[in-house]
Amino acid sequence: MQLISTIAQLRARLSAEASVAFVPTMGNLHQGHLDLMRQARLHGRCVVASIFVNPLQFGPNEDFDQYPRTLDDDCEKLQGLVDVVFAPGVNEMYPASQTVFVVPPPIADELCGAARPGHFQGMATVVCKLLNIVQPQAALFGKKDYQQLHIIRQLVAQLNMPVEVIGGETVRASDGLALSSRNQYLNEAERAEAVFLNQTLRSMREQLLSGARDFGMLEAAAVRALTARGWSVDYVAIRNQSDLKTAGAGELVVLAAARLGKTRLLDNIEVNLH
Ligand code: PAJ
Repeated sequence: MQLISTIAQLRARLSAEASVAFVPTMGNLHQGHLDLMRQARLHGRCVVASIFVNPLQFGPNEDFDQYPRTLDDDCEKLQGLVDVVFAPGVNEMYPASQTVFVVPPPIADELCGAARPGHFQGMATVVCKLLNIVQPQAALFGKKDYQQLHIIRQLVAQLNMPVEVIGGETVRASDGLALSSRNQYLNEAERAEAVFLNQTLRSMREQLLSGARDFGMLEAAAVRALTARGWSVDYVAIRNQSDLKTAGAGELVVLAAARLGKTRLLDNIEVNLH
């Protein structure tokens, strides 16, 4: 496994590769990330992971400074799983102030975008840069960040980028909590409570499968239940899997973001009504 920090060296290393599968990350790797690396092996002869905490996708009052940076540990975890780790510094990715941006589709202003203005524009811009730098045949992203995956699919399709986007299933702790680098911000009591987010979504799924169709009422009941337990809820929303717009029927996804103390947690669950 090779650790590379400059774009020029990365391009030279990859120039002779027949096919590259790519997993972009912000590091502090857990099994959710590593699962994507394992799947990447099925999609390219050479597997590249990137580790870059992208300042452009953090708001002024968000956790860019606190975001855990654990490059040595991450490289140990990646041994045997990937061929190249690309870990550029901020000056390598943004040698001058970035004035060209990818404007994401309008859905980027809803759901997580409503509470995090500019987040998806910063994310889409760095993903576009990384795909242009690595030029992979396939790129893998987790369904845990469902809206992010949707926006990346739109980015790649609408800008005609020659890369196959592959979505990986969410990897969870044994109690159901979706793994996230931000889970380590939780104290012991919050960690015990955190599972309630997934339980709420699972219960909504059961109700939908049992015939409940008043989506607004289901969403409001979930917000009330979370709020009563001390959560500060950004949203609970039942949407279409295909476009993330307000759901009709068929292939749905229930998405939620809520804060426990200072930690913002995300989760979602797909529900196929037939
Ligand atoms: P990061 O949060 O590090 O996540 C990197 C990739 O791992 C993303 O595709 C994310 O959806 C996936 N992932 C995270 N937790 C997961 C879990 N529990 N199960 C499955 N996959 C999981 O997402 C980002 O970084 C950044 O926005 C990035 C795309 C790298 C752009 O900066």
